[in-house]
Amino acid sequence: MNGDPKEKYEMKKSDPMVRIQDLQKSFGDFTALHPLTLDIFAGEFLTFLGPSGCGKTTLLRMISGFEEPTGGTIYLDGVDVTSFPPHRRDVNQVFQSYALFPHLNVQENIEFGLKMKKISKSESKSRVEQAIQLIQLQGMERRKTTELSGGQKQRVAMARAIVCRPKVLLLDEPLSALDAQLRHQMQVELKRIQSQLGITFVFVTHDQEEALAMSDRILVMNRGSVEQIGTSFEIYHQPATPFVASFIGSSNRMAVIEMRSDEGKLKVRVDSGRWISLGKREEPKSGAKFILSVRPEGIEVVGEESKEESIEESIEGRVIQILFRGDQSHLFVRDLLGVEWRIAQSARQRPYRVGELIRFTITPLAAILIEERNKGG
Ligand SMILES: Nc1ncnc2c1ncn2[C@@H]1O[C@H](COP(=O)(O)OP(=O)(O)OP(=O)(O)O)[C@@H](O)[C@H]1O
Ligand SMILES: [Mg+2]
Repeated sequence: MNGDPKEKYEMKKSDPMVRIQDLQKSFGDFTALHPLTLDIFAGEFLTFLGPSGCGKTTLLRMISGFEEPTGGTIYLDGVDVTSFPPHRRDVNQVFQSYALFPHLNVQENIEFGLKMKKISKSESKSRVEQAIQLIQLQGMERRKTTELSGGQKQRVAMARAIVCRPKVLLLDEPLSALDAQLRHQMQVELKRIQSQLGITFVFVTHDQEEALAMSDRILVMNRGSVEQIGTSFEIYHQPATPFVASFIGSSNRMAVIEMRSDEGKLKVRVDSGRWISLGKREEPKSGAKFILSVRPEGIEVVGEESKEESIEESIEGRVIQILFRGDQSHLFVRDLLGVEWRIAQSARQRPYRVGELIRFTITPLAAILIEERNKGG
């Protein structure tokens, strides 16, 4: 009816590529996934992030069809595929265990899916060449996969899936066996390929830095439940639960035991007994329990030249350990109440020494109040 192709494309983009409704999975008495409802959009890079055993692989395997759900429905591009076997779903999964064919060499492994799909010889050739470049295994095309390192096998597994150009590519920790440098290169390349090909990526990792760097959105999981879904920025700066705040990045966390609002400015007393000013903000609804979370970079060491007023609000403590991270250092500081703080120190500041007494302040905007959820059952 409407002939504008651009509008049609826009509409398609906003339709979910994968719709997951009340999906759940139990193994006997054990619940691996509590009911989950989630839309994954076309062309999106979505990451499942969570600690070992939280249900990431189980969820991924239900999308690809290798695991049968205990309940719920999965739609792929508008079609209910819940009862479809894996080969009838236009998805490819890269397995945590690689699952390469041992009797085929690198090139034959990568070509395998294309032969099944009856892709033309020339198209197949160019896709395989591009994929081999991506995984940086030029010259190793004839090598048997039993003669590859773990990281090389992992890359072949990824190339084998990418050449098939599925609607959805499911990647289960595809970079975990690579050294840091290759891993960073592959992260950049994978992102590039993903936006070039427009394939929807569902990516699994327990590496939070990788998740933050690569994803459009992140689903943070814990013990088979969703803690939060949001962009990298939201997950990092607005953690919805204490778990998210503790699992992603590092943070200073304290239980809030009292709040007071004074001329629109909020102050909280934390478990050590200390009052902390949070600047102008609304007092959250009473009745709930809160924790206060402050990222290391939300704390500033006060220089000797600082204004009187910031000295007054500042906390004094002794440096007990320094963690050098290259772009910045983290100072571990024990204050006079015995509380330990983790403070990021930028390269601009003079280096501090273990044993030194310093003063620091909490940037009010960087302090987040997180409601503690009661997690029953
Ligand atoms: N076939 C099975 N039978 C019984 N329990 C299972 C089975 N498969 C997985 N589980 C359990 O379900 C939970 C989730 O497993 P899953 O493999 O999804 O975790 P994961 O988040 O992928 O962990 P990892 O990061 O270690 O790969 C785990 O506690 C696991 O022991
Ligand atoms: Mg797993």
